Amino acid sequence: MLNVDIASLGPCLFDSPLHQIGTVEVPFKTDADRILYTNSLQELKEEGATAGEPLSFEEAGPREHVFFESARTTVGIVTCGGLCPGLNDIIRGIVNQCHRQYGITKVYGFRYGYEGLVQRYGHTPIMLRPESVSQIHNFGGTILGSSRGQQPIGDMVDTLEDMSVDILFVIGGDGTLRGASEIAKEVAKRGLRKAIVGIPKTIDNDIMYLDKSFGFETAFAEAVNAVKCAYTEACGAVNGVGLLKLMGRDSGFIACFAALAGSNVDFVLIPEVKFALHGTSGLLETLRYRLAKRGQAVIVVAEGAGQELMQSDGGTDASGNKRYGDIGLYLKDEINAFFKERRMEVNLKFIDPSYIVRSVPANPQDNVYCSRLAQAAVHAAMAGKTSMLVGRWHGAFVHLPLDMVTHGRRKVDPNSELWHAVLESTGQPAKLT
Ligand code: F6P
Repeated sequence: MLNVDIASLGPCLFDSPLHQIGTVEVPFKTDADRILYTNSLQELKEEGATAGEPLSFEEAGPREHVFFESARTTVGIVTCGGLCPGLNDIIRGIVNQCHRQYGITKVYGFRYGYEGLVQRYGHTPIMLRPESVSQIHNFGGTILGSSRGQQPIGDMVDTLEDMSVDILFVIGGDGTLRGASEIAKEVAKRGLRKAIVGIPKTIDNDIMYLDKSFGFETAFAEAVNAVKCAYTEACGAVNGVGLLKLMGRDSGFIACFAALAGSNVDFVLIPEVKFALHGTSGLLETLRYRLAKRGQAVIVVAEGAGQELMQSDGGTDASGNKRYGDIGLYLKDEINAFFKERRMEVNLKFIDPSYIVRSVPANPQDNVYCSRLAQAAVHAAMAGKTSMLVGRWHGAFVHLPLDMVTHGRRKVDPNSELWHAVLESTGQPAKLT
């Protein structure tokens, strides 16, 4: 059974300043407002028969009473890991929500990820105000800068103490959120009253218990443009092959969605589904057949696909992730060699738009999603909730414990409707082995 309880710093003794917003009633939530884990009636019945109350998540939203007194509250924001569309929207949303709704005037932005919380790096935090962030959502990246990798937890908590930061918003992927959980544990160990609230970020959409992570939609929309280019190139020559490599270390969501949205894709290769290159049902022979039939083909490959086919240098990146071989270049060489050997002309065009896909500004859908995540995060932190993150589940905004979310990664299930839709759309065989 999942532990869905949200840690709290203590009783909420102050009236929420949101009471003072105009005449419209504030849609206050209580901790009893909950969103069901499953939306399947069948599962609900089965669960009810065995476990009593069905599993549910605490609903996000403003609380009538808050833990922190706005006038005395200091907030910090840090963005960590790789870039992702919407980071600036989240920063802007938090700053506006703190200043304009809760009347908090001290909001610091820590520079360059967790490095900014370690004083020896010398990255001076910047004070953020609504005027200084008003336009930042029009730009990709993060105005605070980012970095990969963990930093000493004790040093980071020392900085929070030195600067009297009461609430720290941590925006990052699973590694970053694990770090946030460690920070929250150290804060608790020292008996401090500081809320640590995460906002899940990754274009890979691989964070568990979320409908989707912010920026994902923008990223795959951008990837669709690259799919169109790959198709155009493939159509422009005899036996044209458009080979497109997209990000997705361990989860192939971007590749799947880009292929579904863009159509005209013949093969999608993702980390979750192994494939063979050689043999009668392998990728190369199947590609040969496809070219003979259609005259062109588009292959979309996620960066983490087919790693078992290549040699790895065994190293890891700053986040501790295994460094992967370049599957795009590998496939390019293998495909060219295969057709050369058979004296068959192919014109392969390899496109790698990785950083273009992830450094663009968020699209309107993500603009909205990010603003709402930011608002929900500030409401939660002000209510003294900690060691948690905000996310969206079945369309509702919820609170999720950090430890629950970071115990694994969300992946494309090869038995799911999503993967089946990809197979239907591409017409590729279910097994390329
Ligand atoms: O985690 C998101 C992501 O975009 C992955 O898909 C990719 O493997 C990684 O970041 C690459 O990031 P960087 O080149 O910044 O290390």
